[in-house]
Amino acid sequence: MSEHTTAAADPLLAVEGLTVSFPTAAGPADVVDNLSFSVPRGGALGIVGESGSGKSMTSLAVMGLLPKGGAATGSIRFDGTELTALPEKRLREVRGDRIAMIFQDPLSSLNPYYRVGTQIMEAYRSHRRGVTRSEARRVAIEALDRVHIRDAATRVDHYPHQFSGGMRQRIMIAMALTMEPDLIIADEPTTALDVTVQAQILDLLAEIRRDTGASLILITHDLAVVSEVTDDIVVMRNGVCVESGTTEGVFSDPAADYTRRLLDAVPRIDDEIGVLRTTSAMPTIPGGTR
Ligand SMILES: Nc1ncnc2c1ncn2[C@@H]1O[C@H](COP(=O)(O)OP(=O)(O)OP(=O)(O)O)[C@@H](O)[C@H]1O
Ligand SMILES: [Mg+2]
Repeated sequence: MSEHTTAAADPLLAVEGLTVSFPTAAGPADVVDNLSFSVPRGGALGIVGESGSGKSMTSLAVMGLLPKGGAATGSIRFDGTELTALPEKRLREVRGDRIAMIFQDPLSSLNPYYRVGTQIMEAYRSHRRGVTRSEARRVAIEALDRVHIRDAATRVDHYPHQFSGGMRQRIMIAMALTMEPDLIIADEPTTALDVTVQAQILDLLAEIRRDTGASLILITHDLAVVSEVTDDIVVMRNGVCVESGTTEGVFSDPAADYTRRLLDAVPRIDDEIGVLRTTSAMPTIPGGTR
């Protein structure tokens, strides 16, 4: 059987009919409603949609980390194992060893009181029992080097505040990398960063995918961000998938009005002058009647 056939027939992650609900005074409210998608081995999926559309709840459901009160139904199959049926302990093993999550704000995930190297070493040793300190330190330096932190052997002993926002995000990615995950879920990994640093982080994610073969779920409200990195895309609104397909296909020919509006709202760098113009003067519509 060719590799291609295998990947298509046996995705790394297959989510089917995922519904996430929270109790309210009026009964359970679905914040994710009957969502299905899959991520091929080595593939990258973008989940996009406006704030509150259910992107984070989807990823947290996959991780089995829904906030209190949240309940998930449907099927979440990871590498052939049904995660929704796993006891908490086994789920924690899968989560710790095979799925890594990168969040929006690296400061909230890094402890300001500990050297970054110590934190990477801790993360590494928590899922690799019996690793010596010196071995963990070597892995931490290697990981920092891999995410292009210069002079990693010195920087490993620095504290989070000694790094820029973009560097801190790369440190979080380094931490995730030491797990050698099969799947990386990045939830708005570049939202807090300026445009040039965003591009660096996206390049890094693409590079890691290429080098390690890890699959990626990239969550963002910014369509410009997914276009560069992902193969497939799911567009969410109010917890529902309004459109899905190849990223290229959805971008070149969006089927849903909602997607078209999202695409129109993307301020690309080369459009910024245009955006300024539209906000400061009435745009003229070529061929229009006004
Ligand atoms: N703990 C909670 N209890 C009840 N409802 C919640 C809880 N957390 C989130 N929600 C609701 O779930 C819905 C989806 O939220 P979610 O965080 O998945 O949105 P999102 O697409 O990630 O948005 P953003 O782009 O702002 O991060 C929202 O309507 C939100 O109000
Ligand atoms: Mg979110």
